[in-house]
Amino acid sequence: MVFEQVVTGGCQSYLVGCAETCAAALIDPEISQIDHYVALAARDGLRIRYLIDTHTHADHFSATRELARQLNVPVVMHRASPAPFVDMRLGDGEMIVLGRLRLQALHTPGHTADSMCLLVEDRLFTGDTLLIDATGRTDLPSGDPEALYDSLFHRILRLDPALKVSPAHDYKGRSHSTIGQELASNPRLQKRDRAAFVEMMRSLNLTMPTHITEALRTNMSGGKTVAQLLSEAAATVPFMSLAELKARVEAAEADLIVLDVREREAYEGGHVPGARLLPRGQLELRVNQELPDPTRRILACCELGYVSTLAAATLREMGFLHAVALDGGMKAWREAGYPLNVGRGP
Ligand SMILES: [Fe+2]
Repeated sequence: MVFEQVVTGGCQSYLVGCAETCAAALIDPEISQIDHYVALAARDGLRIRYLIDTHTHADHFSATRELARQLNVPVVMHRASPAPFVDMRLGDGEMIVLGRLRLQALHTPGHTADSMCLLVEDRLFTGDTLLIDATGRTDLPSGDPEALYDSLFHRILRLDPALKVSPAHDYKGRSHSTIGQELASNPRLQKRDRAAFVEMMRSLNLTMPTHITEALRTNMSGGKTVAQLLSEAAATVPFMSLAELKARVEAAEADLIVLDVREREAYEGGHVPGARLLPRGQLELRVNQELPDPTRRILACCELGYVSTLAAATLREMGFLHAVALDGGMKAWREAGYPLNVGRGP
């Protein structure tokens, strides 16, 4: 078995492949590592055939949907997953065939209703059901401490103690553990009585994960994150540096239109000399009157450089083939001490 672990902060994803047939599966991929996974599979001579999420993640952004689109391979989750884009839904005990390897799904609800562990040879991918020295929390949507008790004590802790445990998270940089080690020393597994375990899980009082709303929204619907929208927009537009713009403004370059896409109040507080105001919210509807010549070079700027990237991408999409975005925003422009015009006029 070819085995790779990719760490993103506290999140762990895994690439497992059959050494003989080169078929591989990616488990719990994270959106910022897409290029890393594809490159790793290529380096190891593997072809990714399945994209698997062990459960609906609430704390990071899954890459399964985007990778499925890029690689044209199925997304696999447990059958209880609410995500509409899942191509293959596994029931308890069912297996995915990966060349000579068999990945068996064990339904282990508790952290979420759709949690599953994956058993492959001498290793158990435990998702957030069992972590090293911890368990997944049960206070997020569809979490259930009673179900987690059953999944742990009646299912996976009864497996071979020598099985390696590869969880979806570890915040201390540990790579793996074993069932036996967890039974012996995991503090959350020492309460083996159901009521005591449930009471302990209910009183953990953990803080909510950052980005929980966005993670649940995008992971459950297959929608895009804000970072994805921005990076897709950035990939379609060229940028101009602050210093380059300053030089061109000072040279009064005739071909360049500087388009300030902030709101009027911000514009009047100080803008690039010569810049026109066209707030992002009105861009599409006013573009015909404001920008009649699609062959002009149009540079979009905003306060921080994000909205202007989206605006420049929209302009390109609408046929303004020379739309560019400022690399940075008016905040950086002011901080650089570059010239500003104040008031209504350009
Ligand atoms: Fe989770």
